[in-house]
Amino acid sequence: MYYLTYRPKTIGEIDNIEPRETIKKILASGTLPHAFLFVGQKGTGKTSTARIFAKAVNCLSNSFSKSPQPSQHPQQPQTPHNIEPCNHCSNCKSIDLSSFPDVLELDAASNRGINEVKELIKESSYLPMAGRFRVFIIDEAHMITSDGFNALLKTLEEPPSTVIFILATTNVEKLPKTIQSRCIPIEFGRAKESEIVHMLKRIAAHAKLSITDEVYGLIASHSDSSFRDGAKLLEELVMLGKTDIDAAQSHIGLRSKNNLLVILGKQTVIEALSWIEEFSKSGGGCKTLIEELLHELHDDLLALNKIGPLSRKTTLSLLEIIILMKLLQEAYSNLRSSPIETIPLEIAIVEFYNKRSVH
Ligand SMILES: Nc1ncnc2c1ncn2[C@@H]1O[C@H](COP(=O)(O)OP(=O)(O)O)[C@@H](O)[C@H]1O
Ligand SMILES: [Mg+2]
Ligand SMILES: [Zn+2]
Repeated sequence: MYYLTYRPKTIGEIDNIEPRETIKKILASGTLPHAFLFVGQKGTGKTSTARIFAKAVNCLSNSFSKSPQPSQHPQQPQTPHNIEPCNHCSNCKSIDLSSFPDVLELDAASNRGINEVKELIKESSYLPMAGRFRVFIIDEAHMITSDGFNALLKTLEEPPSTVIFILATTNVEKLPKTIQSRCIPIEFGRAKESEIVHMLKRIAAHAKLSITDEVYGLIASHSDSSFRDGAKLLEELVMLGKTDIDAAQSHIGLRSKNNLLVILGKQTVIEALSWIEEFSKSGGGCKTLIEELLHELHDDLLALNKIGPLSRKTTLSLLEIIILMKLLQEAYSNLRSSPIETIPLEIAIVEFYNKRSVH
């Protein structure tokens, strides 16, 4: 799979500019912080970067291999020149295979309690076995319980000099301030379209694909600001042989059925109607579309009344949802008697815009 095969393996391959440059500077300075906080939404490279970092400081053939053990000379700053992991030495290789004894990954979503945290703290008191640093990567760090955080706090304050913690989270606001303030924050944010294009081109060069800039742009704008989603969408289009712009556009159009709700919330009636035209031209059926829209709206209705989880941020108000549901129900029952399949839906949409402007 592209997103795994072409996961960045060196600092230079990290496609988001800010975290890449920050990590570079920190590694080149030679004085390593003992705790990081990687913040950003899913698929922005937090885990990949944490592994690259762990390799860089434990690699047997870059500059770090030549500097003295940190435990012996904790104060002495070094200025490493070659900070990239080589990806070939035994340390780099076993970190890639997740079999290196000094790099420990913990998913806080499933190991969130005090006992797991205590176990981790105990582990952090051991000297490295095969590398220079023990690196603890704690994914979804915001899931740790408050007892767990309390236990971790002291260790984060004064960890052994051979230990580096990397906390990764999608929800930084759920992390206690006391924990945040002990870590160096690195913002992964959301992947920018230009950065996703950069990644797509990197993959295409490796995989020997020839794709136009227009298609790269289209993929990037439908990737939900995630490198992972971008790589997956590229692979999907390649597998289906739909990498020219027309084929890619109609494929992507079909995938994003529920985009219509977003358009209804934010854009004009003309845009909504042309979306329907486009949808139907590329082979989409109105019956399933209306069914799916009603399901979505039903979920939103329950969520706005606090009965169900809010899966998707709705841009429609409660009143608009109700108007739209009534109109779509009506359109649904008129489908069979309509000579042109899209007419009932189009009428519903036009009426929705009219009714909404009255309220
Ligand atoms: N900065 C990046 N540059 C290139 N590809 C990336 C980047 N970040 C993520 N990816 C792609 O997305 C996938 C998931 O990345 P991952 O590091 O697991 O993200 P996160 O931990 O933030 O969810 C990777 O396998 C890789 O293919
Ligand atoms: Mg991750
Ligand atoms: Zn190496």
